[in-house]
Amino acid sequence: MPKSSLLSTSELERSSVVANNTMNRERGLAGVNSYARELGFDPLSRLAARPHAPSWLDLCSGEGHALREAASTLPDDAALTGIDLVGPLVRLPAPPTLTEVVASVSTWAPTRTYDLITCVHGLHYVGDQLGLLARAASWLAPDGLLAAHFDPESIRWADGSAAGRATVSALRSAGFRYSARHHRLTLEGGREVTLPFHYLGADPAAGPNYTGQPAVGSHYADARFSTIAGA
Ligand SMILES: C[S@@+](CC[C@H](N)C(=O)[O-])C[C@H]1O[C@@H](n2cnc3c(N)ncnc32)[C@H](O)[C@@H]1O
Repeated sequence: MPKSSLLSTSELERSSVVANNTMNRERGLAGVNSYARELGFDPLSRLAARPHAPSWLDLCSGEGHALREAASTLPDDAALTGIDLVGPLVRLPAPPTLTEVVASVSTWAPTRTYDLITCVHGLHYVGDQLGLLARAASWLAPDGLLAAHFDPESIRWADGSAAGRATVSALRSAGFRYSARHHRLTLEGGREVTLPFHYLGADPAAGPNYTGQPAVGSHYADARFSTIAGA
């Protein structure tokens, strides 16, 4: 896609690929349609094992079912936060340990760190995915865990060619692990992360990804040569 056709973050967030009402926003904590199944671990067990007040930040939290289920079990000093562009379609009073924020993960930032940060099939709809991953790494507690679904195919250079291999290599160098089989990125331990990519814009017409749903293409210039690339 020509660079001039790429969408800005605000344009992307108004596009039909993000406002797709057939996406699965209703995963619970455990069971068939769940965070435990998609993440390959049970978030509640991990949080319950923490020696102090457990904290969980869920990016692109959808209806927030998993957070609500966790809130009903975790102690009163737990801190659970869900961020979603749309938020729950049916607004119910939140339990005291849960904060539901309707905002874009591209602009929102927390004022604390978290033991667990998840993004379950949310990055597919975010323009600057790598910028979000780098920021989220800094929101993680020193012994915290970040887990997110990620499709390297969605990362493109300015001319539309595949940047996935370079991206996974840079993420691994920064300390992330990537499971291609499960399309899962994980990072253990909060840190400052700088990835050598300069965000150019989003392609909302990239087509379906491995989930079968239409997803966003995220275009970058190599930050080491960004003046040459015209970024
Ligand atoms: C496929 S759903 C997954 C929801 C939830 N994680 C789940 O598994 O049930 C993707 C979610 O990402 C949200 N989303 C898309 N772009 C976003 C953005 N820029 N900021 C915050 N949320 C976003 C959508 O509103 C949607 O709820």
